Amino acid sequence: MLRGDARNSGWQGVVLVAATYAYFLIFAQFAFVHRLASLGLVDAYLKAVMAAMAIGGIMVSLIAPRVKMWASPAARLRTGMIGSGAAALATLLPLGLASSLFVSFLIGVGLGLLTVTLATDLRAWTGARNPLFKVGLGTGIGYLICNFPPLFTAAPTIQAVAAAGLCVAGVIATMGRGQPMPAPAMAFPNTEISFVRALACFTALVWLDSAAFFIIQSSPALKAGTWAGSVHLWTNGLLHFSAAVGSARFLRRRGVSFVLIGAFTMLGVACLLLLDPSRIVLASVFYPVGVSLYSVALVAYPSLIAPASSAAERGRKAGWIYAVAGWCGSALGIGMGQNMGHVPPVFVGGAACVIVIPMLVKAVLSRRREALATALVLVAALGADRIVVAGHGANERSQIERGRQVYISEGCISCHSQYVRPNSPDELMWGPVESVEEIQRQNPPLIGNRRQGPDLAEVGSRRSALWLMAHFYNPAEVSSRSIMPSFAFLFRDERGDDLLAYLESLKGGDTAAHLKAEQAWHLPAAAQAVVNAEQGAALFQTYCGTCHNGDGRTRSVWRASFKRLPTNFAGGRLFDLPSSDSGEQRMNRIAQITKFGIAGTDMPGHEYLPDEEIASISLWLSQNIAQPVGNR
Ligand code: HEC
Ligand code: HEC
Repeated sequence: MLRGDARNSGWQGVVLVAATYAYFLIFAQFAFVHRLASLGLVDAYLKAVMAAMAIGGIMVSLIAPRVKMWASPAARLRTGMIGSGAAALATLLPLGLASSLFVSFLIGVGLGLLTVTLATDLRAWTGARNPLFKVGLGTGIGYLICNFPPLFTAAPTIQAVAAAGLCVAGVIATMGRGQPMPAPAMAFPNTEISFVRALACFTALVWLDSAAFFIIQSSPALKAGTWAGSVHLWTNGLLHFSAAVGSARFLRRRGVSFVLIGAFTMLGVACLLLLDPSRIVLASVFYPVGVSLYSVALVAYPSLIAPASSAAERGRKAGWIYAVAGWCGSALGIGMGQNMGHVPPVFVGGAACVIVIPMLVKAVLSRRREALATALVLVAALGADRIVVAGHGANERSQIERGRQVYISEGCISCHSQYVRPNSPDELMWGPVESVEEIQRQNPPLIGNRRQGPDLAEVGSRRSALWLMAHFYNPAEVSSRSIMPSFAFLFRDERGDDLLAYLESLKGGDTAAHLKAEQAWHLPAAAQAVVNAEQGAALFQTYCGTCHNGDGRTRSVWRASFKRLPTNFAGGRLFDLPSSDSGEQRMNRIAQITKFGIAGTDMPGHEYLPDEEIASISLWLSQNIAQPVGNR
């Protein structure tokens, strides 16, 4: 038996792991979703189709280990590969809803069979010599393939063909070996974490990973910082690769808890960094490292790490890991990304308390040297963060400078001024007056004298980055009937982000005083005399529906980028207003929000609307939507 094993170089294991990972990442999680969107499937339908995949995957993960008799592991792997490849090719056809559901289910079934069978009999394919390294290599190569720029940026149909090609490679790798060897159990340090704890840990890790992946993928502002451009892709791929190979080494030397704690720290930090758009570059370093660290463990765990006496037990463990951690974890993560647009720090903290801290404490108590090393790594990471933030400060200033050049070269000044005239209606509408010194500090001053559009001297305190970006892509989307041209082309390179940074820097007057003035503002009696709720309803559709209706355009396009998703008023949702308010106070409060927006959020002001229209919208909202209740 051992001699047979020794002859096995393990290349088959590397190919199989790489092909399975790459298929899952580039096709099942990525190209397939885009292909469905290009076939016109969105929202509820898209969710149903993706659910079919998860159902297929979970079913097979739980059933396959129990019906072992029907074929040899090699034949099962081949079946899984052929099924997955066929499903990938099927997406080239013009699918409808029913056929999409079927294909999606087939992808889930194929992947379920592949992952569970591979993870159960891993030793047969990796050989006995350093099997963990083969898994690390396979995982790293899988991620490298996905981040290969021409493939990552290819059309979904091309990615589907490539995925089918990976399956062919997988089939070839299963040839020439009949019955795989039974693998003797191997002792690794620190395997004493229980199966349930390992399962919980993997689930939390996949959850964090999927949420972060979804958030980055569906938000253009974030994507620019992480996945756009071939330099980024190569960096990502190489980070993934090195971390995967490193993970194999750590698994062997330090044990699985060490790797899981490390992966959790990396992913948790990445999720927290994603909360702050200025730290995305740093997040994009932590994210791939965390993902690769745990990905290797996920494959290796059932047959190389978990203590299991028989192949049947390994199979059952693999089944649970892929059903619960793999499929449920990623569904939960994607759901979190879709619905919240961020990973709440409470969630990261909660998972850390429940899963990682007990492990950490145990590790610290049993191994002083490692504890010291962990502490050093954390201190180094914090130090690196400070350095990056400081470097970012300098970079930010130069970005603002570049943005100002874009402002000049695009001729924005021919339509926009940057000077709030003191003691004029400007002050209330376009923000606090700036001091002469503040204006003189600008070089060259861009005061301008044409006012086709609003004054921009204080636009950074008035508009969120999200609003500004949505507006540049398509001004009329957030500003009905705007005559401002689209500047979407600026976002094909860095100019768009530079311009955004510049506009966001345009603030600095006395904001507190200005806020007071906004709160002191009341609907004038003349406006209240001519209110018309019916007109208010129509105005709401024109100016607010894009964000506040369930199917509003801005809401759908920028869904993941909102700091907080706008309340769906069309869905009849209520919002908080002090219950002591009289009807008139309530209307006034809504009018203030409508006119000035909510500072620090994505809710923009509508300063340009005449007071009568603000009054009509507010009347309609206060009569139909707002309720004096304390809960949503
Ligand atoms: C042809 C004239 C024109 C040009 C050129 C133009 N804009 Fe505008 N812009 C407008 C008009 C009109 C509005 C008001 C309607 C709206 O919100 O779209 C506006 C609105 C805006 C707003 C929203 C301000 C607020 O408080 O609501 C911003 C920000 C803005 N423009 C920035 C720019 C920048 C930056 C450029 C150059 C890249 C630019 N604009 C070029 C006409 C123009
Ligand atoms: C660009 C998207 C966008 C547009 C357009 C928009 N809103 Fe909002 N609105 C938001 C967001 C986001 C919030 C939640 C802000 C927060 O608390 O984080 C919000 C909150 C509100 C609130 C406070 C109630 C609550 O649920 O938090 C009111 C009232 C409101 N908007 C009214 C309006 C009205 C009226 C219009 C049209 C004149 C409008 N909005 C247009 C994004 C938008």
